Amino acid sequence: MKNSKSIKKCLFPAAGYGTRFLPATKAIPKEMLPVLTKPLLQYGVEEAIEAGMDTMAIVTGRGKRSIEDHFDVSYELEHQIKGTAKEHYLTEIRSVINRCTFSYTRQVEMKGLGHAILTGQTLIGDEPFAVVLADDLCDNDEKSVLTQMVEVYAKHPECCIVAIEEIPQEHTNKYGVISGELIEENLYKVNDMVEKPDPKDAPSNLAIIGRYILIPEIFEVIETTKPGKGGEIQITDALLTLAKEGKVLAYKFKGKRFDCGSVDGFVEATNYFYDLEKGKI
Ligand code: G1P
Repeated sequence: MKNSKSIKKCLFPAAGYGTRFLPATKAIPKEMLPVLTKPLLQYGVEEAIEAGMDTMAIVTGRGKRSIEDHFDVSYELEHQIKGTAKEHYLTEIRSVINRCTFSYTRQVEMKGLGHAILTGQTLIGDEPFAVVLADDLCDNDEKSVLTQMVEVYAKHPECCIVAIEEIPQEHTNKYGVISGELIEENLYKVNDMVEKPDPKDAPSNLAIIGRYILIPEIFEVIETTKPGKGGEIQITDALLTLAKEGKVLAYKFKGKRFDCGSVDGFVEATNYFYDLEKGKI
């Protein structure tokens, strides 16, 4: 393992079908759906860069080739708009491409988020890393959620960190839900976590959102984790094993989060970023 515990790699599971957005996602990966003019995945990559990461590891699947093309130079396009008034449209993505490297691996079978993360092991190796689920779109006018989590991790380098937020109790069946002991302001030592429990069985209303910092030990734990909810290998179940050893913290982040995996959340995010761009908020 590297001496420094700073986190340089970020894993993006991006192999899902995005069925809730059909027919839009028939030929376009859901991670490439734009909020205003920027694909969801680019927001996630920019958040990782802001948090100090420079190596983006993307777990893709069939029909996801446009992701690779997006994070690559398009010489034809560059040539076409060079010196014109439109050149600035590419400034942001060009800066992203210059500041980090991208590597890809394919998840051949859809066996759950835990399995997707295990598929990424080949790109991560033996070091702590972040995981971003691009359909949870986060925004903060100060530090991004991932930056806040990196700061928590720096103080607790033996632990995995999951981001949480309070949700209405009736929504627990859409999330991984934790319970734990408050050890610092906004920080819980997790003692239980359940994937998508019925509201009546949920250990709390603290839901995991799509930001994780994981220690490399997680890979061997996932390997021995049995399929759980929906017959899939759940990262929540693998993390529970580490939680029982006192190695999982849940951080209640500051900022906004939009569930862009649902049409309602996607529209809400679009309105929010539009208002932000127009200086209305
Ligand atoms: C996944 C995780 C879940 C987490 C959620 C956050 O579920 O399995 O624990 O709460 O992401 O968005 P998914 O939304 O992929 O079904």
